[in-house]
Amino acid sequence: MNKIILDTDPGIDDAMAIFTAMAHPQIELLGLTTTFGNVSVEQATLNALSLVEMAGLDIPVARGVATPWVMDLNPFPDFVHGVEGFGEVKLAAPKRTAVPQSAAQFIVDQVNANPGEISLVAIGPLGNLAAALQIDPSITTKVKQVVLMGGVIGGDGNVSPVAEANILSDPHAADKVMAAAWPVVIVGLDVTHQVILNKALFAKIAAENAKVGQFMADAAKFYIDFYSSIRDIDGCYAHDVSAVAYVIDPEIFGTIEGEVCVATEGVAIGQTIMSRFGIPYPLTFWTGRPKQKACMEVDSNKLIALFETSMTGDFWK
Ligand code: RIB
Ligand code: CA
Repeated sequence: MNKIILDTDPGIDDAMAIFTAMAHPQIELLGLTTTFGNVSVEQATLNALSLVEMAGLDIPVARGVATPWVMDLNPFPDFVHGVEGFGEVKLAAPKRTAVPQSAAQFIVDQVNANPGEISLVAIGPLGNLAAALQIDPSITTKVKQVVLMGGVIGGDGNVSPVAEANILSDPHAADKVMAAAWPVVIVGLDVTHQVILNKALFAKIAAENAKVGQFMADAAKFYIDFYSSIRDIDGCYAHDVSAVAYVIDPEIFGTIEGEVCVATEGVAIGQTIMSRFGIPYPLTFWTGRPKQKACMEVDSNKLIALFETSMTGDFWK
């Protein structure tokens, strides 16, 4: 059993990841922590509460950071996730409310209460994880792993030629996360751009999951329309669910490792740069940083099957 906290900016693909984490038998979802990113943190928190209610669960939601650590807040990508975060789907206000602790405090409290057991799975900008490190630096020795959907090591970015959205939204926070002495696994565009979830899959989910299937298909339609408009694909990328899939079955991924820095200024701002070839020069930015892992290969069919069975399985009956 994998205990996880999902740090999220729901977000259409976040919803896919959250539902997968809720349903999969190998995951114990301890809570959702929210951040700005696809939408404001206020909207992300409402959306997280709505997803928990839609699933009929009692999972705590803790509200997180509203802005980046240093940079100004960028406009929210409503052309990708819709104004309220789920495409053209408008949800009624949730009845539940967030817990009183901040997201960062919730992370610190849970990690200290479950030393060595929790995977922090971050699928949005990384301000909450950076804030948790600031509150209690000792959590680096107590988390099982940090698995984050973000960055790109060898491929193209999706917001700039070199930068991925979650990292570029808060590069200073991301660099703190990469520099900390905890085991980080980057599930970046190198692999998520290999995994396409098509319209037929969401039609199957809508038909077989009476609880959240139609919502998921309706929200995914907006996301698929966006990707179909910019890429020649019949579907959307499985960005966030890939991070949850790594926790469940890391064997479907191939990884490399090296020290990682995040560019925090200039034309390459938001780039995740891994020192892969043991550069012998002293006193570089990478010197003294821990080696982190990055996923470079993935068995796309197995990941898609994991998502499909999670979304259509008995959990939702
Ligand atoms: O680049 C993709 C990432 O940015 C995903 O987490 C998506 O939800 C957006 O936050
Ligand atoms: Ca996300």
